[in-house]
Amino acid sequence: MGWTIRAATADDVPALLRAVWGAFGNRPDDALIETATGFVEADRALVVEDDGRIVAGGANVSLELTVPGPATVPAAGVTQVGVLPTHRRQGILSALMTRLADDARRRGEPVAALLASESTIYRRFGYGVGVWNTMVEIERTRAVLRRPPALTGRTRMLDDEEMAAALPPFFDRYRRGQPGEVSRTPGWWARHLRDHETWRGGGSKRFAAVWEDGAGCAEGYVSYRIHPSWEGGLPGHALAVENLIALGPEVRAALWQYCFGVDLVAVVRAGYLALDDPLRWMLTEPRRLRTIAVNDFLWVRLLDVETALAARAYAGDDRLTVEVVDGFDHAVAGRYRLAGGDCRRTDEAPDLTIDVADLASAWLGGTRFATLARAGLVVEHTAGAIVRADGLFATATGPASSTGF
Ligand SMILES: CC(C)(COP(=O)(O)OP(=O)(O)OC[C@H]1O[C@@H](n2cnc3c(N)ncnc32)[C@H](O)[C@@H]1OP(=O)(O)O)[C@@H](O)C(=O)NCCC(=O)NCCS
Repeated sequence: MGWTIRAATADDVPALLRAVWGAFGNRPDDALIETATGFVEADRALVVEDDGRIVAGGANVSLELTVPGPATVPAAGVTQVGVLPTHRRQGILSALMTRLADDARRRGEPVAALLASESTIYRRFGYGVGVWNTMVEIERTRAVLRRPPALTGRTRMLDDEEMAAALPPFFDRYRRGQPGEVSRTPGWWARHLRDHETWRGGGSKRFAAVWEDGAGCAEGYVSYRIHPSWEGGLPGHALAVENLIALGPEVRAALWQYCFGVDLVAVVRAGYLALDDPLRWMLTEPRRLRTIAVNDFLWVRLLDVETALAARAYAGDDRLTVEVVDGFDHAVAGRYRLAGGDCRRTDEAPDLTIDVADLASAWLGGTRFATLARAGLVVEHTAGAIVRADGLFATATGPASSTGF
């Protein structure tokens, strides 16, 4: 083994980013490195060196994750993970994941969260899918709302400076009430608002429009890019919604109506829609909304089951004892008793047994124990325990997650 892992210094961050981005097949220019650097917390980053060169890396960033309640928990956001092709499949990722989990625990973060480049990678480390996202598209001329909004307020397009002023505080207000969302750090916003060409996916620079009530208070926004097309001289642009976030149904309708009203656009696409997003219900022709993909999005790892389970709210006072299986971290495995919103280790006989990764999926409220049981992933020891568990973990809305990190 020629490679060694060590804590990064601030000076290492550009080389760390070059190695990680190289693993993703990208050779970033200096401007991209500069904007990405601000999102990395150097004292939470790890680099892997071989012969004096950085060949891999990974980092935690300090986030908050919203859970049912709503309430927020500190979460380690695992990011900038990559291993150059010369060093793959030598156990580097495995070593990084152990060190990153230790770092999160030391800082009192009961959970870690990440987005995966491939869905095969992280379950072995105890991560489960907390939030699935759908990608949808609709021909603009068929996109008609059943209930057009009747609001007093206005949709206002934002220039770059206005985006920087309006979007961060609005998003922060919204994400605290939406399970599955993570906080966006100042470094995240700086990178996002810089809107480097690499992130545009062939589309225009970012457009954003905010919906403001009569008092000028932001109640929602949509950000999007235009992918132009003039084939044969006919306008056929695609409007790709990046985020459409609204605090209520009327504002949501107003923002979709705005998107469906942009001239020269043939098709409207959106990529971060929650599984239970209401858009389908809002359309006169729901079948016209085509689902392009349903993908795992936010993966969650319970590092401290007692704290994580006690952090969220439950429906009712039922008690449940769960045996948690954890093949990656044996210290987490064990029996936990959930009662009155509190969660403690116990020796009691379990009502059901579940892997820590699948428990994380149920924990965020988007996955029923009954579904996991039908997939053969929950063992019921007490008759009726799965139905009781679903009752306890039930939430009014499913989780949503709109932040790439
Ligand atoms: C994904 C990546 C980080 C894996 O790093 P690595 O150092 O090769 O992983 P490890 O050697 O620690 O592998 C641990 C286990 O996961 C498996 N594994 C890791 N990456 C995998 C992948 N992409 N597909 C399938 N299996 C994978 C390994 O086969 C190994 O399995 P084993 O324990 O049964 O032998 C690396 O391939 C990479 O940088 N890929 C491109 C960038 C990327 O996708 N980064 C992840 C960001 S979310």
